[in-house]
Amino acid sequence: MSKLYNKLVNKQATLSLIGLGYVGMPIAVAFANEINVIGYDKNSEKIESYRNGVDPTNEVGDEIIKKTKVDFTDKAVNLEKAMFHIVAVPTPVKEDHTPDLRPVISASEELGKHLVKGSIVVYESTVYPGVTEEICVPILERESGLKCGEDFKVGYSPERINPGDKVHRLDTIVKIVSGMDEESLEEIANVYQIVAKAGVYKAESIKVAEAAKVIENSQRDINIAFMNELSIIFDKMNIDTKSVLEAAGTKWNFLKFYPGLVGGHCIGVDPYYLAYKAEQIGYHPEVIMAGRRINDSMGKYIAETTIKKIIKADLDIKKVKVCILGFTFKENCPDTRNTKVYDIVKELQEYGIMPDIYDPVADCKEAKRLYDVNILNKFKSEKYNVYVIAVGHDNFKNEYGNLLEKDYLKNKKVIIDVKGIFDNSIFSKEEYVYWRL
Ligand SMILES: NC(=O)c1ccc[n+]([C@@H]2O[C@H](COP(=O)([O-])OP(=O)(O)OC[C@H]3O[C@@H](n4cnc5c(N)ncnc54)[C@H](O)[C@@H]3O)[C@@H](O)[C@H]2O)c1
Repeated sequence: MSKLYNKLVNKQATLSLIGLGYVGMPIAVAFANEINVIGYDKNSEKIESYRNGVDPTNEVGDEIIKKTKVDFTDKAVNLEKAMFHIVAVPTPVKEDHTPDLRPVISASEELGKHLVKGSIVVYESTVYPGVTEEICVPILERESGLKCGEDFKVGYSPERINPGDKVHRLDTIVKIVSGMDEESLEEIANVYQIVAKAGVYKAESIKVAEAAKVIENSQRDINIAFMNELSIIFDKMNIDTKSVLEAAGTKWNFLKFYPGLVGGHCIGVDPYYLAYKAEQIGYHPEVIMAGRRINDSMGKYIAETTIKKIIKADLDIKKVKVCILGFTFKENCPDTRNTKVYDIVKELQEYGIMPDIYDPVADCKEAKRLYDVNILNKFKSEKYNVYVIAVGHDNFKNEYGNLLEKDYLKNKKVIIDVKGIFDNSIFSKEEYVYWRL
């Protein structure tokens, strides 16, 4: 069993990646530079796109996809050819915010059916402590007829990559690894070291590794919620929150967080996983849930503030032309899943305002499928008198100078700069009503 690493580097064994999305694809590509890799995704369209050299996630880019040696497949039976498996399928929440483990369960079922003796299975999907050993292992055993610990082993290695972030990449961040025993931990650490150039951190157990991941994002969620609360308080006092944070940030131990929308499938979701587990064991998490409530309400708050500013600017609420700039859940990333910008759109629609949405980065097809919204890929700013800059894409920061030069922003305009990406002094003239979180 301890020789799997050697077999992989000598190309006598193959690694498989199950779930080729934002997380799975970069890992598959990185491993494929060194060892044999099968990339399995049940989404045949996605596999077809990868085979054609197109990367819809933009995480690794078309050029690299074209050159990669990953053996793409949408047939689970091909998993039989591999002995080291990494599972990176989604872990969303249901409508009621409880964990939706269906992808992890179905991936474990499919893998279990094709699991061979001597294999190692590592989960990367973000989960609450206990999912790997208490939910996945019994499925793998049932489907394979093999015994965990004797015939195959498991581990957990959370993913820390940050889509759209070109600095914190797989090869620059320390990777937490864990295994069910000493032997599997050693093997898993060795294998990950092939791609985790910044090194691995060996967690003392699978549950510790699972818990570490889920609290990394819960901590961010709570800190951002605190900033959002401050922003609501300071707004009522006519104090600019960004200026306050810049002043406070000069203290050595003040944490640099900023207010904003918390969407996506990590920070806004993972705390619910932890909260769910806490409730199951009889503890109601107060701080975690307060953070979730505040962050989930920010889209509505921004929309309501927009309405107030429109009235303050003496614009006719029935005739205003609103453009929302940015629809993705975060800057410089095409992903629109669980974007909170949609909450702004919905709330404005409640007031009878039908905003246009412009986003040069977003995956427009996916946004249409998920929310039935049409995203403009050309910006016709002359026709708007209200802008909600909802996402801090670099494009917007760069385009801004041009917009001013072209005088697009003349006449009375309401500028809602959610992330505070522009210099507010530029909008101090009377013809603007400028607001930021
Ligand atoms: N995206 C991030 O920023 C990020 C960062 C760290 C951790 N994570 C975690 O990593 C996991 C994956 O996230 P992602 O963003 O890559 O998701 P994703 O939706 O981009 O990709 C997941 C892929 O898994 C495939 N899939 C679903 N069920 C499958 C099955 N049964 N068999 C085979 N393939 C299946 C889907 O078709 C999809 O292509 C999640 O648990 C997430 O919380 C994500």
